[in-house]
Amino acid sequence: MTEASYLREKLESISPTERVERIVVQRFAVPLLQALGFDELEIREEFETGCGQVDLAARKNGDPEDIFLRSPKNPYLLLEAKSRAVNLREGSYYRDAVYQIESYLLAKNCKSAKWGIITNANNIQLWRKHGKVVHPATANLDISSDNIESIVRNLRDKIENYERALTVCVYNNKGGVGKTTTVINLAAALATKGKKVLVVDFDSQGDLTGSLGVTPGKITLTQCLKDPKIDVHAIVQTYRLEGKRIIFSIFEIFDRLKGKQSTLPIFDIIPRDPELETLTDSRAVAYIPKGTRRLRDLIAPLRNEYDYILIDCPTQWLYFSQSGVFAADVILIPTRPDDLSSLNNAARVITQFIPETARSRQDGGPRTLPIFFNGVPSSGSENTIKRAHDEIDEIVSQERSMNLLPYFRPKPKKGNEDKYIFRIPEYAVIKTAAFEGVPAVFKRRRVLECYQSLAREYFIDE
Ligand SMILES: Nc1ncnc2c1ncn2[C@@H]1O[C@H](COP(=O)(O)OP(=O)(O)O)[C@@H](O)[C@H]1O
Ligand SMILES: [Mg+2]
Repeated sequence: MTEASYLREKLESISPTERVERIVVQRFAVPLLQALGFDELEIREEFETGCGQVDLAARKNGDPEDIFLRSPKNPYLLLEAKSRAVNLREGSYYRDAVYQIESYLLAKNCKSAKWGIITNANNIQLWRKHGKVVHPATANLDISSDNIESIVRNLRDKIENYERALTVCVYNNKGGVGKTTTVINLAAALATKGKKVLVVDFDSQGDLTGSLGVTPGKITLTQCLKDPKIDVHAIVQTYRLEGKRIIFSIFEIFDRLKGKQSTLPIFDIIPRDPELETLTDSRAVAYIPKGTRRLRDLIAPLRNEYDYILIDCPTQWLYFSQSGVFAADVILIPTRPDDLSSLNNAARVITQFIPETARSRQDGGPRTLPIFFNGVPSSGSENTIKRAHDEIDEIVSQERSMNLLPYFRPKPKKGNEDKYIFRIPEYAVIKTAAFEGVPAVFKRRRVLECYQSLAREYFIDE
């Protein structure tokens, strides 16, 4: 009997209204992990994460001395089980379970963990961890004896083929908030942390391509979108920095490259080409196979070649932005505290556009990260920030289909800092750098430190 059909038999032995969590653990969760390729010496019950005990943890054994059951260190996958009496399909118990698996995955004994599962034998969802980000890797699936074998195949395929990249779309349905600026400087800051980064300019205006002074090669993004037979590598360029164009020594930041070159490759870029502008919504539908799904497929072959893929989108919720959000694992939303509509538009993105994308993707969709304030003036900003927080109070108190607190008040328990929102200050050099073909982070050390802390706040686990 295969592990999957054994699992099915076990599943059928659980009462449809089973109230005991342990029964779900033993008759479903353990056989599930076995079907996912872990043997009994590779599965541990009640693993101490450092932030509470998770029901099951698993990883492949190393050499004969390194048996996970005996030395429970460096788990690869965590599983949190609930009884069948708990509604894990939707609602507050489901949200609590998501919060729980996320905190376990980020806990100190689980640095090595890449996957989390929540299940009660009626529903199951796989979550993936990349750096500090935890995001859905499957939809929250309904389990039945008919589909359990295909669920196992799907999960096993995902787990065995962990993709290197996290794909981030920077989006707000409001112009001038710093979407393009964020993509450029975050990409450069991640590169200074040794990460391999690809930037996709998916705005037909091409501000990003223009401000880096990159020109497309012979084969363009537009051609590649239209013709799936073209190898995507043909449109990838490298953004290089010339040593003399920066103020402080980049050799300090890139010591791995010390003295080797006078121009340094910083990150790769898929530049925008002028023809992209002809792709209005209706033309995109007519000329691009699979429409807003195409970008996701186009970058798929690159997901194992980079640590981060950052997508810049235009403001309007049309073909380009819909494609960027559709292609992403997570959405990062810049706002400006002096522009209250940028906060309201962020709420619209979170409650309407991202759920709309998740419904069409059917794989759990992208995860939305908490908003941040961009362009905060260094002085005289207290009133501005206060007004922004008043507006946020208003936004989160409105009756809506979903709770917006996690996106606008991400650290509610942090003492007085309960109104903490990450900030990028306003720097004149950010504006001028856009015309000089150099990311502002390479012009001023302070700007670099800001974007490195943005990278640490959301993405990298240092
Ligand atoms: N933190 C900042 N400090 C100073 N200027 C900024 C900052 N962030 C963005 N800008 C400037 O604001 C303008 C709009 O930013 P941009 O990134 O083009 O926004 P978007 O892509 O959302 O339309 C640009 O001129 C940019 O240089
Ligand atoms: Mg822009």
